[in-house]
Amino acid sequence: EKIDQVEALLSKMTLEEKIGQLNLLTPGGGIATGSVVSNNVEAKIKAGQVGGLFGVAGPEKVRQAQKIAIENSRLKIPLLIGSDIIHGYKTTFPIPLGTAASWDLELIKKMAETAAKEATADGINWNFSPMVDIARDPRWGRIAEGAGEDPFLGSAIATAMIKGYQGTNLKKPNTMMATVKHLVLYGAAEGGRDYNSVDMGKVKMYNQYLPVYKAAVDAGVGSAMTSFNDIDGVPASGNKWMITDLLRKQWGFEGMVVSDYTSVNEMVAHGLGDLQTVSALALNAGLDMDMVGEGFLTTLKKSVEEGKVSEESITQACRRILTAKYNLGLFNDPYLYADESRPEKDILSQENRKLAREAARQSFVLLKKHENVLPLQKSAKIALVGPLANNKNNMLGTWAPTGDPQLSVPVFEGFKNVAPKAKIKYAKGANITNDPDLAKRANVFGTRVEIDERSSETLLNEALKLAENSDVIVAVVGEASEFSGEAASRTNLSLPESQKRMLTELSKIGKPMVIVLMSGRPLTIEDEFALPASILQVWHAGIEAGNAIADVVFGDYNPSGKLTATWPRNVGQIPVYHSMKNTGRPIEADNFQKFKSNYLDVVNTPLFPFGYGMSYTEFGYKNLKIQKSQIAQMEAVEILVDVTNTGDFDGAEIVQLYLRDVVRSITPPLRELKGFTKVFLKKGETKTVKLTLQPNDLKFYNGALEFVAEPGDFEIFVGTNSQAELKTSFKLN
Ligand code: IFM
Repeated sequence: EKIDQVEALLSKMTLEEKIGQLNLLTPGGGIATGSVVSNNVEAKIKAGQVGGLFGVAGPEKVRQAQKIAIENSRLKIPLLIGSDIIHGYKTTFPIPLGTAASWDLELIKKMAETAAKEATADGINWNFSPMVDIARDPRWGRIAEGAGEDPFLGSAIATAMIKGYQGTNLKKPNTMMATVKHLVLYGAAEGGRDYNSVDMGKVKMYNQYLPVYKAAVDAGVGSAMTSFNDIDGVPASGNKWMITDLLRKQWGFEGMVVSDYTSVNEMVAHGLGDLQTVSALALNAGLDMDMVGEGFLTTLKKSVEEGKVSEESITQACRRILTAKYNLGLFNDPYLYADESRPEKDILSQENRKLAREAARQSFVLLKKHENVLPLQKSAKIALVGPLANNKNNMLGTWAPTGDPQLSVPVFEGFKNVAPKAKIKYAKGANITNDPDLAKRANVFGTRVEIDERSSETLLNEALKLAENSDVIVAVVGEASEFSGEAASRTNLSLPESQKRMLTELSKIGKPMVIVLMSGRPLTIEDEFALPASILQVWHAGIEAGNAIADVVFGDYNPSGKLTATWPRNVGQIPVYHSMKNTGRPIEADNFQKFKSNYLDVVNTPLFPFGYGMSYTEFGYKNLKIQKSQIAQMEAVEILVDVTNTGDFDGAEIVQLYLRDVVRSITPPLRELKGFTKVFLKKGETKTVKLTLQPNDLKFYNGALEFVAEPGDFEIFVGTNSQAELKTSFKLN
């Protein structure tokens, strides 16, 4: 039926109408992420020159747009209505790097389902998410939008998100088409500078960077978005190897491929020719839809006439876009996602906010425990200080354009909700930054970084005075939302000087201190780590931030999150990640050795390794056992370990399994994540945890890019983070 309907439509279409379907526009409305927004959108829809829109929301507006297409265009083809729903729609969840730290795939799927329910209630049928790009350089601001550094965890999270957004039937009005982005290697931009070149060998690409995109394809993702960067000298939107050979032929992707915002046009600046040339390059590479730039709309017909592209390639691209519309049920009912009764019941419900609170608390990572300061007594006298302690504008985090910061719960309010008997006094203490240029650059999406008119001394003295009169200091510090995210790369990952100074001065007072750290990325916090304080990393935690932070700080919830990207000691260590290789001159245990692979001025190990995170309780690992010490090719193997809660609180632990392929034909990483599970243990309780290594977990892409498992010895490490020492081994025959 699908094929008949789509082919019947195609057979009626003129070349111009087919090209029109390849055009994706945005009328603007405050979410443009480039210098261009579309004009004459209505006239273009009527003329059959638009295949989809984004930046349009609300059932009335969407109905109106579909109506123009259905009633005024010759072929009555409905529109795709896209949007960036990165971490929740109006119920904003923590940033993706935060939700990844929960390592909880069910929770992540549930969040995606909820985002789909809210977004479709508001008319959206196509989501530009998940962003799965592996990121090993925290200078890159968009590390906030993904799951971190690891392809195994990243693949599992991508799969959960796609299943959540798309459900099992895309035609249901509460599911939407997902987009895996950005293909490929966007997170490996040189120097962590956004949109920069990428240069990477195929072996590293296949083993470390590509698995996440492939997992998304295997999960049935409906569309894919090309990235801004070049790959081997050809930008992704014009890269035939990437779009056609890899994505379509090797991985069997059957969905539609959309460019990123004006990325077709940007190939002119990349130096590949004029707009007609680069548009033809993109179409011939296999790109189906052109986002905002209108290179396809304005040049493809001429390219057909000049024999530079074939009409068949345009028909093929159009076919994929029509098929997506068919899959979404839009041909049956163009108003399927324009139900005016839905927003009221489906958006921002109590249930959704409850999920946001749960997601936030599961995302927090306890980085340091100091003298059992945490959890706090609910009757304590607290000095709550810091520029992010009472700041609605920075709770949601980057890329939450559909969320309303004014609906978010700041920390001060959360504290009062959760501990109404505590005596809490607030002082700002410092500006987020005293650098007006940095503040201005971070304010693209509205004013979020205000520099106080009061002097720094006045702010600081106010906080110090409160601190002196309190039992405990809670300092809420970190990055503003827009210090991370798109086009928000940084070369300095320390806390701004204003905040560093406040923390140092507060620590001299000698009161117990908790640092609540907000950021969209790993920061370099060696100085703060050295202060006598506990540190709780809370990312940008979304609409329920304050309540969730209070739940953890006052002990209603025991933190269990684990980092999914390594935290370097300083920027010079970057890149530093858990699956590094040995080199021919490895060092032992961070002891400096001349003519070995290390630095003169800093040890090799990071401040916090991948997988790291503490709990109010302690966990012990014992009795690591493997089911067999010799296994055959294509055989799965079970690993058992006893995990005991040896501390004073109930709590959850994320048990992690790392694998080392000891000898193989290309240099192996020292260890790679290959299994994990989250287990809840009451205090004193022991559980035997089972982890299974699947045959594919032993495989890698060899020098000929074949996916193989080579016979020989493997070592397994199981424990609480990527530096786990409990070890066993087996042989693969
Ligand atoms: O989806 C985004 C992409 O991640 C970055 N550029 C703009 C797109 C549409 O908003």
